[in-house]
Amino acid sequence: MPDIESLLKEKRVFKPAPEFTRQANWNKKTIDEYRKLAARSPERFWAKMAKENVSWFSPWKKVLDWKPPFAKWFVGGKLNVAYNCLDRHLEGEHAWRRNKAAIIWEGEPGDSRVLTYGELHREVCKFANVLKGLGVKKGDRVCLYMPMVPELAIAMLACARIGAPHSIVFGGFSAEALRDRINDAEAKVVITADGGYRKGAGFALKPAVDEALDGCACVTDVVVVERIQNGTPMQSGRDHYWHELMKDASATCAPAKLDAEHPLFILYTSGTTGNPKGILHTTGGYLTHVTTTFKAIFDIKDEDVYWCTADIGWVTGHSYVVYGPLANGATTMMYEGVPTHPGPDRWWSLIAKWGVSIFYTAPTAIRTFIRLGDDLPKAHDLSSLRLLGSVGEPINPEAWMWYHRVIGKKKCPIVDTWWQTETGGIMITPLPGAVATTPGSATLPFPGIDAAIYDEEGNEVPPGAGGLLVVRKPWPGMLRGIWGDPERYKKTYWGTFKNTYLAGDGAHRDKKGYFWIMGRVDDVMNVSGHRIGTMEVESALVSHPNVAEAAVVGRPDDITGTAIVAFVTPTGGTDAGAALNQTLRGHVTKEIGAIARPAEIRFTDALPKTRSGKIMRRLLRDIASDKESTGDTSTLEDFSVLAQLRESEED
Ligand code: PRX
Repeated sequence: MPDIESLLKEKRVFKPAPEFTRQANWNKKTIDEYRKLAARSPERFWAKMAKENVSWFSPWKKVLDWKPPFAKWFVGGKLNVAYNCLDRHLEGEHAWRRNKAAIIWEGEPGDSRVLTYGELHREVCKFANVLKGLGVKKGDRVCLYMPMVPELAIAMLACARIGAPHSIVFGGFSAEALRDRINDAEAKVVITADGGYRKGAGFALKPAVDEALDGCACVTDVVVVERIQNGTPMQSGRDHYWHELMKDASATCAPAKLDAEHPLFILYTSGTTGNPKGILHTTGGYLTHVTTTFKAIFDIKDEDVYWCTADIGWVTGHSYVVYGPLANGATTMMYEGVPTHPGPDRWWSLIAKWGVSIFYTAPTAIRTFIRLGDDLPKAHDLSSLRLLGSVGEPINPEAWMWYHRVIGKKKCPIVDTWWQTETGGIMITPLPGAVATTPGSATLPFPGIDAAIYDEEGNEVPPGAGGLLVVRKPWPGMLRGIWGDPERYKKTYWGTFKNTYLAGDGAHRDKKGYFWIMGRVDDVMNVSGHRIGTMEVESALVSHPNVAEAAVVGRPDDITGTAIVAFVTPTGGTDAGAALNQTLRGHVTKEIGAIARPAEIRFTDALPKTRSGKIMRRLLRDIASDKESTGDTSTLEDFSVLAQLRESEED
């Protein structure tokens, strides 16, 4: 693998600065101690973390009940996530946080809101009462389809307060995708907005909900935040404005005392079939994982302004915009719009304006900014920054070095954090006060996480050799299942190696034991840090009447990491030209959302298949990236297909 070889040559080492280490929440001594404890007993380590970092109404009776592949953590314990994120910062030694900024929000047009812990608590209690008023009970699912506005965080916490699991659907998904997710979770209420701001203009969101609900019998009510005041049509009896429901809502709402294993949320993510998986996370273990990792990895202090640029619609936003930061009493920033409006330096101006000290973003964004040039960040005062993070995809050493030099001014540690929707929280990461970093490596597993690299037979590979990334022991933030599909859960994650979690990523480990994540090894693409299944895009394409067959693969891309390339065989008599190309791109956008729109569509009379009829994706990947195919083609059904595909050019 040439990628592995080039990365293996990366030898630069950045040791933690003594000034940073001295003030770190977790210094070397603490970490050594925790690593020792976790190596002896991960359960004892996590129990210690659960006690120190989370507030419980009643203690657990058993730390872990592990009947592979089903885990229960902190069995019998009772707690509430909203209580941990809000109430406990208004009481006792932390009572002063009542007037501390919990959320700093800025809208794309430049409007802003700062919600203190006291205000956020009040809003959350009120909205929890609104939900109750709409008949939402403990266990009922609530779907959130919203732009990045404070009401999104308020709605999440209100759901958590009353024990109604939320299912957040990223606002970029289409009506069709939303409908599937609402139906799969059987959501009772949908929370949305009339729209949001993006690229300098308002966009409507509510019409997608109206369209989705055409095919949903389970939804009784829709709550609409008025953000762009576009006079969106409201269906009487079903649709209510947020501000009207909130007007008379009481600000008193006791947090429900929930079981540690009570479902906190479902979040859909792409897999290797056409149907997204509803990843289920529960209360006690998840909160322990995200609260502990946030405190240790982001080294959070009360004075910090922390900004994670992820949309809350993805897991990064769940765990490290909302739950992790608020459970730690931190100030978390949210920004509504695109990074390049009104100018390409918006992010840097936001950092300077709000004094952001900890910044967490994705390599795809970093690569975009590299292209835009150093002058933009250099024109802003970024001296408030003290720690940088990266997530979502492998960060190439060049991007890492630019981040370090131009944004971090060579003084900020960089935490390259590997994790997934399924893992709930960060799994492999540097600890900024203690672990030396090397560009491109996520370094070491967090204490209590038993990660390893296996060959296909399930043997651990020697240093330097590539293999499959696995986790050998359960961990508190792990997914508890796929909503409504325990068999798929067993098969996808636990069906390859006995009692071992298969992440779906390729990786290798160097002599120091550092992990180097190479990307997905299954039919899941990582486009701008977002997971998209090739099968999902294929199903969307073949649902168009002019498409007979389609195969989708990823091609490496300098900015987005992976670009989607579709090979399409049109139905007989269809003109495979520019018009069809445009139509099909639009069709995928309608079926899934703009994030899944192919960068390139190539028309072909036939797709290369094995004799048993399986599409040979490896070949297609080579063709898409203009590589000479060196792989075995002996099972290819029709060699002429290959030659034809090479000739096919994008229109
Ligand atoms: O391929 C890995 C990549 O993102 C996948 C998980 O995607 P998702 O569930 O959407 O969650 C993204 C944010 C946690 C992984 O299987 N990935 C995530 N972080 C890294 C990464 N690849 C390399 N390095 C990372 N730091």
